[in-house]
Amino acid sequence: MVGGLAARALHRQGASVALAGRNAERLADLSRLPGDCPRRRFDAYDLDGCAALAPWAARSLGRLDRVVVAVGVAGFGPAESVDEPAAEHLMTVNALAPMAVVRGALTVLEAGGAIGVVTGAVVDAPPRGMADYAAAKTALATWLAVVGREQRARGVRIVDARLPHLEGGFAARAVTGEPPRLPPGADPAAAVERHLLAPLAGAPERPHSVPGAPERPH
Ligand SMILES: NC(=O)c1ccc[n+]([C@@H]2O[C@H](COP(=O)([O-])OP(=O)(O)OC[C@H]3O[C@@H](n4cnc5c(N)ncnc54)[C@H](OP(=O)(O)O)[C@@H]3O)[C@@H](O)[C@H]2O)c1
Repeated sequence: MVGGLAARALHRQGASVALAGRNAERLADLSRLPGDCPRRRFDAYDLDGCAALAPWAARSLGRLDRVVVAVGVAGFGPAESVDEPAAEHLMTVNALAPMAVVRGALTVLEAGGAIGVVTGAVVDAPPRGMADYAAAKTALATWLAVVGREQRARGVRIVDARLPHLEGGFAARAVTGEPPRLPPGADPAAAVERHLLAPLAGAPERPHSVPGAPERPH
């Protein structure tokens, strides 16, 4: 949903868009955007395939200045109820796969470009019953923060879009457990505009040295 909303909005703004997704039908539907967007299938478990997406998009479009990563899956239940395959699934889809996509994007993105990655409000307020999902999103958010500092001197911006709970059925597609009773979600289009597209469109920061960032790991 979020990826589709972002792709349609960017297309309406005049961007040439290349689409990547797992579901062939949804991808075909989306690629009927006027202009017949290039499209490619991927699975989050294929991390090399994830890293190859942005280079493919750059080749297909001729250049690449924006990347949006909206892959993710929910999981619910107290920590002891999440079995190892589900725990691995949540960490792979919510952290390792988006990280691989971004790693690939950094090799081809133009200076002045931007990458928007969806994490979630759980990073700031991790609820009970979502330990694995929240931990994966928090790992991703921390990784993005460091990459953002690393890329500042090159003028590449990293946007960590911490979306609130949205209407749209994401929780019902959980890989494990049952979602808690949730309050009505925010309007998806408005939230995507506010937390993802607006920051993604922000004026690129001018290249400069990175003040305050530790140069040595500690
Ligand atoms: N909706 C919310 O309330 C909410 C709130 C905060 C953050 N988020 C985050 O927003 C992002 C988008 O979620 P959404 O609301 O748009 O839900 P969604 O429609 O279920 O989108 C999740 C996307 O991830 C893809 N995906 C899941 N497992 C995959 C795998 N193994 N390989 C490749 N692709 C896979 C799904 O592909 P398929 O289409 O093939 O299933 C789908 O395109 C996620 O990162 C989510 O964590 C959502």
